[in-house]
Amino acid sequence: MRAVDIIIRKRDGEELSAAEIDFLVKGITDGTIPDYQIAAWAMAVVWRGMTIRETTRLTLAMAESGGQLDAEAWAPGAVDKHSTGGVGDKTTLVVEPIVAACGLPVMKMSGRGLGISGGTIDKWESIPGFRTTLSREEILRQLSAIGMVACAQTGELAPADGKLYALRDVTGTVPSIPLIASSIMSKKLASGARAIVLDVKAGSGAFMGTVAEAVTLAQWMVRIGNRAGRRTVALVSGMFQPLGFAVGNALEVREAIAALRGQGPADLHEHCLTIAGHMLHLGGRTRSPRLGRALAADKLAEGAALAKFRTLVHAQGGDEWICDDPALLLAAPCRGILAAGKSGYVAEAHAGKIGLTSVRLGAGRAQKGDAIDPAVGIVLRVKVGDHVKKGYPLCEVYAAAEKDLSRALGELEDAFVIKRGKVKPLPLFYKIINS
Ligand code: URA
Repeated sequence: MRAVDIIIRKRDGEELSAAEIDFLVKGITDGTIPDYQIAAWAMAVVWRGMTIRETTRLTLAMAESGGQLDAEAWAPGAVDKHSTGGVGDKTTLVVEPIVAACGLPVMKMSGRGLGISGGTIDKWESIPGFRTTLSREEILRQLSAIGMVACAQTGELAPADGKLYALRDVTGTVPSIPLIASSIMSKKLASGARAIVLDVKAGSGAFMGTVAEAVTLAQWMVRIGNRAGRRTVALVSGMFQPLGFAVGNALEVREAIAALRGQGPADLHEHCLTIAGHMLHLGGRTRSPRLGRALAADKLAEGAALAKFRTLVHAQGGDEWICDDPALLLAAPCRGILAAGKSGYVAEAHAGKIGLTSVRLGAGRAQKGDAIDPAVGIVLRVKVGDHVKKGYPLCEVYAAAEKDLSRALGELEDAFVIKRGKVKPLPLFYKIINS
């Protein structure tokens, strides 16, 4: 078999065989196919697409390209959740201990933030002492012992995806639904859980800008998951404004702890209970997502979820006293308020613009490998639909230096839109996809 023939067949819009896809993935993994041929093939896929059969084969081949974790053997029934990423998305920090408190193990590997999309690993690492780089044995032992793990993806997991994604990133071949879906799902399959809940975000603060695009991606991922023998459900959720109020790593951990105390923002509370409800249902713990949500709400109200969070932080070397005294988390020294310039209803709190300002403050990275500042960020005081009077605080900025603070306040003026007429609150979820 020759890579050039596979590129030509895809260029001409033909469906590749399983053997051809396996050949490509092997060549990507062991370096026997040069980057220029892989990039040419990826560009052909961007233009010609792939069938669901090809995409599922690509996903499985990438999942099998390195070590895989047998989460099921160590923690039977373990569920996984994945968010396609957004601004202020601290859902995992809340949902994982809730679901574990309901008796269902959660196998969760996360990534670091890139661009406006925050990364769960950066949030966990803003807890003093918290260790996210765990060996394969540590991951499985902890999962078995306490039913939870919060770790960075190990390099040995789906290495073909790691190489392909790095090439796509620099060759303009990221925006392809089959390539995105197979990239995400290969890592989910390799991490071993039999049930996967996907939170696919749509909006200015997300990878998919519109609900229609997010629905298409969600449908592909669910089909791949189900064809690969994993029970998979996707919820398409809104990312037109940040989730909750806090954007920025330590600020989001603080908000997650408040949510685990039942004192978090209403949208975050509802979002987390809904996701938890689906995880509990898909993992076989309850007969419906509605009953799952009710069980999750009970565990939250009893304090069992916060206790689980504390156990997780302790298990990974973090300072669990942050649960009692969130002031132990880092907080940036320069603070300032952006006030409403007029009275009216909040019509927009633009997630994309708020995310970008938070990256410029140092909460996120423009390039892979950049250092971040866990203490900086933005805390909203309003959500879309709220009524504000002139002078009312729209958000508070936490910056490392006065010059960053004044630049951020200037930028954020553009992120909020206030209108005279009544504005409806935004929906949290748009669609649930399970086949
Ligand atoms: N995230 C991934 O892991 N892969 C993609 O292709 C896009 C986003």
